[in-house]
Amino acid sequence: MYVRVLGSAAGGGYPQWNCNHPNSRRARATDSRATARTQSSIAVSEDGDNWCLFNASPDLRQQINENSILHPKDSLRHSPIKAVLLTNADVDHVAGLLNLRESQPLNLYGTDRVLSVLASNSIFNVLNPKFVNRRGLELESELELSAHDGKKLGVTVVPFAVPGKVALWMEDEKSGKNFGTVDEDTIALEVKSRSGSFFYIPACARMTDALGERVSGADLVFFDGTLWVDDEMIREKVGVKTGQRMGHISVSGENGALLAFADLDVKRKIFIHINTTNPILVDDSVERAAVLSAGWEVSYDGMAIEL
Ligand code: MLT
Ligand code: MN
Repeated sequence: MYVRVLGSAAGGGYPQWNCNHPNSRRARATDSRATARTQSSIAVSEDGDNWCLFNASPDLRQQINENSILHPKDSLRHSPIKAVLLTNADVDHVAGLLNLRESQPLNLYGTDRVLSVLASNSIFNVLNPKFVNRRGLELESELELSAHDGKKLGVTVVPFAVPGKVALWMEDEKSGKNFGTVDEDTIALEVKSRSGSFFYIPACARMTDALGERVSGADLVFFDGTLWVDDEMIREKVGVKTGQRMGHISVSGENGALLAFADLDVKRKIFIHINTTNPILVDDSVERAAVLSAGWEVSYDGMAIEL
């Protein structure tokens, strides 16, 4: 199975358009130790020819241009992208669908909750319903992904709920402390094929016993690396929200990902969905050194993995 990181940054990318934080400034100045990154998405394929996108970032057009595996090949209208699977309805995960207009056959997978969001926004009909099948994902139910013509892609997913939050733009202030969040709002995936398996968890608010048991002993986990510390955006004076408020665990700290994974025997651990303020983005930071010495990797755009 092949995995290509199309985008490794969190919502807004790295640098974010209106961010003047030192991290963003270094990326904007094309500092070789502060490599710019697009918004989070990966592509997965069993045969190297037919690909499924896990999330469709607003940067998808750029990501396709920069990854020749996704270029048209066979005829005047063609795409190796056979399916798209959405793990939530965040802007950074669904807005890229609009790039996939218009009459290209695709299967589009999401939970009923996420598909209902697309159904209630008619702009998503630019993915011509005659050519794009929308298919529901059921939590804890194994499903082999397929192309529009029914051909199996050799990639099986098991979607499961993780602690998280409804998409920012869908928050309902009147619906209690988690803004009307339901289980299907934030899912993660176990991904399996004949050749290997991995977990894709780009958003997660905290480690639970159940999640720890599930990923224990895994060969590879992509995990939410949004912030280094929970109040990072406040400390750095670029925002008012904590990571917890946004539905994201931190990398460091007593409730953070480094400690949560320390005893889980995961062979390869890779941070993805990394916010523009997170110091692990910068190659020469002490925080980068700390995650590397804890056995983690920091994903980058174009990172290629074969399982
Ligand atoms: C998130 O991951 O919290 C969201 O992408 C934030 C956003 O929509 O800006
Ligand atoms: Mn996001």
